[in-house]
Amino acid sequence: MSAPNKDYDPVEVSSLDSEAVESATTAALAAFVAANDLDELKLARIAHTGDRSPLALANREIGALPPAAKAQAGQRVGKARGLVKQALAAREADLEQERDARVLREERVDVTLAAGQTRVGARHPLTTISERLSDVFVAMGYEVAEGPEIEAEWFNFDALNIAADHPARTMQDTFFVEPAEAGVVLRTHTSPVQIRALLSRELPVYVVCPGRVFRTDELDATHTPVFHQIEGLAVDEGITMADLKGTLDHLAASVFGEGLVTRLRPSYFPFTEPSAELDLQCFACRGESVTNPDRPCRTCGSEGWIEWGGCGMVNPRVLEACGVDSEKYSGFAFGMGLERTLMFRHDITDMRDMVEGDIRFTRAFGLEG
Ligand code: DAH
Repeated sequence: MSAPNKDYDPVEVSSLDSEAVESATTAALAAFVAANDLDELKLARIAHTGDRSPLALANREIGALPPAAKAQAGQRVGKARGLVKQALAAREADLEQERDARVLREERVDVTLAAGQTRVGARHPLTTISERLSDVFVAMGYEVAEGPEIEAEWFNFDALNIAADHPARTMQDTFFVEPAEAGVVLRTHTSPVQIRALLSRELPVYVVCPGRVFRTDELDATHTPVFHQIEGLAVDEGITMADLKGTLDHLAASVFGEGLVTRLRPSYFPFTEPSAELDLQCFACRGESVTNPDRPCRTCGSEGWIEWGGCGMVNPRVLEACGVDSEKYSGFAFGMGLERTLMFRHDITDMRDMVEGDIRFTRAFGLEG
């Protein structure tokens, strides 16, 4: 605080005279009344009660007065400041009340309004069937293995004992990645993942390999150039065809119903020896339509069986190509199309429905996890 000024003449200190104090008070009260909201009131408060407001300055002057004048001036300014403070508090209370009422009015929520109708998405049925099949194997201790969709010809063909002159290698079936002589293709099946699994894992190997594959087919009710397969591979000591059959029967029962079995028909694949076509017992008629002409079956065409995929004992040449001792180890393999599996499991007649992405189709499968 500044030292008292000996030459001080109170008359000259205009901020302390009663008129000045009164007009400062009046101005403050008027400013508070004029403030329309709390923001405006804040400005008025700073102007009229802040450190640099006339009344604050006046208050500060009191200390410099001679003792005789102090009491009177102090009373006058104190009273004025009290009045201003009271008026400010009153106005503030009013404006707060107004603001609260406005917020309640403006931010009102109508809890009776209908809730939003946003649709929840669902995974594509091909994804769910792929996982359903994989899960059956994961439960038996298999691992899920994946490989690239753009694949070296060696993995897709050579290592699988598919020779260079094999029909599957002609331009008609296979999408070649340019330049054609680079030996890179869009994989035509998931079998190359067998090779990758054998090369990258310790024996024994038990894997399932679901994935997307490509062939130069036109899109129609039963073909699509981009489709899905799932491959299974077990290589261990002492694996036999009985293990293959038991595994496939377990898969059939898990996916299509208790007690359903599979049938193996002799066939040929370069990568298995012996090889077999894999048929699934018709889950709709369970074979009854074959002997009962009165009850034909749409699902199997009254054949009793549905073609499902291919399988066999891994050709020793494939094992050797992967550096596996085929004297010590043997294995089985199988592969099937997921679109076909989904088609007969859900009575879908047109493959295009699965690839066109129309959600009216997928929605029918619900939110199946
Ligand atoms: N890779 C075959 C195909 O795409 C399917 C297949 C057949 C897979 C026999 C196998 C198998 O693992 O053992 O037509």
